[in-house]
Amino acid sequence: METEKKKSILSGIQPTGVFTLGNYLGAIRNWKSMQDEFDCAYFVADLHSLTVRQDPADLKKRSLDAYRMLLASGLDPEKNLMFIQSHVPAHAELGWILSCYSLFGELSRMTQFKDKSAKHEDNINAGLFDYPALMAADILLYQADLVPVGADQTQHLEFTRDVANRFNGLYGDVFKIPEGYYGKTGARVMSLQDPTKKMSKSDTNQNAFISILDDPKVIVNKFKRAVTDSETEVAFREGKDGINNLMGIYSAVTGKSMDEITQEFAGKGYGDFKIAVGEAVVEELRPIQEEYARLLTEKDYVEACYKKGAETAAYVAGKTLSKVKKKVGLLPPAK
Ligand code: TRP
Repeated sequence: METEKKKSILSGIQPTGVFTLGNYLGAIRNWKSMQDEFDCAYFVADLHSLTVRQDPADLKKRSLDAYRMLLASGLDPEKNLMFIQSHVPAHAELGWILSCYSLFGELSRMTQFKDKSAKHEDNINAGLFDYPALMAADILLYQADLVPVGADQTQHLEFTRDVANRFNGLYGDVFKIPEGYYGKTGARVMSLQDPTKKMSKSDTNQNAFISILDDPKVIVNKFKRAVTDSETEVAFREGKDGINNLMGIYSAVTGKSMDEITQEFAGKGYGDFKIAVGEAVVEELRPIQEEYARLLTEKDYVEACYKKGAETAAYVAGKTLSKVKKKVGLLPPAK
């Protein structure tokens, strides 16, 4: 029987701390559901993290934690290509080459660059500026068909397509032009303290976000403290940002519709609802937390996974990189 070739998907996640419920419901949980349908590659984007100053020991720890977290979330390293970006030198190499095909003007227009330079005024480094070229390299090296990205990264994906088209225009079809993947959109999880803002692990208020590894009691308490409004009905309505967010989370975790949720909590107050959301989230995260704890004792296994991941990635990426080098006229090394 002839099997159709699966489409390939690639995405990266920066090791900026323990993942939040937002990362999980918005991205990682969907990655898990895609592992049979697509050829998937996921990596820890540690090189991208260097664009803002990092504590070396901390970065190293967070990169390992992030990789372990991907495994604990149910991504199967046999089905998905899972690696650490800096273990595959082709990323930095193609990143450099592509930066020579990226224009100052277009990089200057990137909103992430503008935001981050405003935030890190004392360290507006060339890497921060060149970030999109490295991200383009990440994607193009694997000839990915699809890239699931959040709204904050669509401009970078657009840039990737522009650079790829420019390069192909000069040298012939070298790169596959990737598309955004917006298939099953994950829940957009907002801050529990300011539901108009996205939930973020860098929030200074610990009550604003749920970390995937938060203790069950902490999780329930954070939900109890979640900011809502002065009404009492659990209903999804314009202006009820806090309740809408909690309903979105509850719906994502239980599969219930907004109407079903409203019925379930009819006549009950926000207090009961918040506890129910907290408890549902605890149950959702329990298997991940248990698997994470187990993997902490399986150091060799985790290491073997990212070793194999890097080897396979280097092989796949190497093919594209060799083609690129040949096209632009770099002398091949002597055999
Ligand atoms: N820039 C992405 C983010 O911060 C992470 C990332 C790096 C990425 N390289 C990528 C995502 C390639 C998708 C594809 O979220």
